[in-house]
Amino acid sequence: MTKPKLFIARKLRAAVEARAARDYDVVLNPEDRLFSRDELVAMCRQVDAVLPCHSERFSAEVIAELGPRLKIIANHSVGTDHVDLAAAAAAGIVVTNTPDVLSDATAEIAILCMLGAARRGAEGDAMIRAGKWDFWSPAFMVGRQVTGKRFGVLGMGRVGQVTAQRARGFGMEVHYHNRRRLPAHLEEGAVFHDTLEGLLAVSDVLSLHCPATPENIGVLNARTLALLPDRAIVVNTARGALVDEAALVAALSSGKLFAAGLDVFQTEPGGNPEIAALPNVFLLPHIGSATEETRDAMGFRALDNLDAFFAGTSPGDRVA
Ligand code: DGY
Repeated sequence: MTKPKLFIARKLRAAVEARAARDYDVVLNPEDRLFSRDELVAMCRQVDAVLPCHSERFSAEVIAELGPRLKIIANHSVGTDHVDLAAAAAAGIVVTNTPDVLSDATAEIAILCMLGAARRGAEGDAMIRAGKWDFWSPAFMVGRQVTGKRFGVLGMGRVGQVTAQRARGFGMEVHYHNRRRLPAHLEEGAVFHDTLEGLLAVSDVLSLHCPATPENIGVLNARTLALLPDRAIVVNTARGALVDEAALVAALSSGKLFAAGLDVFQTEPGGNPEIAALPNVFLLPHIGSATEETRDAMGFRALDNLDAFFAGTSPGDRVA
């Protein structure tokens, strides 16, 4: 039987690519080049399936040009904001994602961002690297301690829940706002707020974990930042689109916010130079799920979804 033809848009872990090559007629991207929009369309028109990352954008216009052969977009990501799900569904293209497997890795990065921001990690690191550490006193590089503070989670899905567990390890009191209140065994004592405003008012640290759906775009803006306690810390490991970056820069510059720890930006790759120029930020280049274990698990999960689809069953992680 001929194997389905699969385009793997970015370089994946060797074991993932080996399994894919065993089961599919694969087209790989060994140089890990970011394909242009037109190249992506041209590649997808020649295959039965594509395995992209969040770096490949499937807008409604792109989907309209994909032609009749492509049957499934099996994402190597939990986020699906780079795919117009309604357009894919209308075109009869199945879309899947990779939930669950990246929750631990992303929670680790959220905690790193929180601590890096609270304890001025980037400032201290830069000072030593530049050979400028020439002073010490009890007044030197004083940060904010997170122990005993209130940890606000916006979006208590899988990543939010694991991050909340890690924050409890620092003696933090967990608060959250979510579309739906969680059952008690998942809440684990976290305090539910039925409004965003209620959560913001008590968040000494606010950590974003909601998807970048149209209603969540810019959820953290001048109005909502003003509702946080003075000298709060903002952590974003979800999507840059959730934050109005100009408002964030203003809040960080005025002292309304003590600091921010960010793994995601509106413009990626690259980030935001105005944010990068601030001293009170701890910044990472969208590496929340970038561990060996999690990259393997994401790749295998995407392949599981493809296998189910080509076996004629519904993939477990179907989102469209
Ligand atoms: C995800 O899975 O959505 C991560 O942001 C990596 O793409």
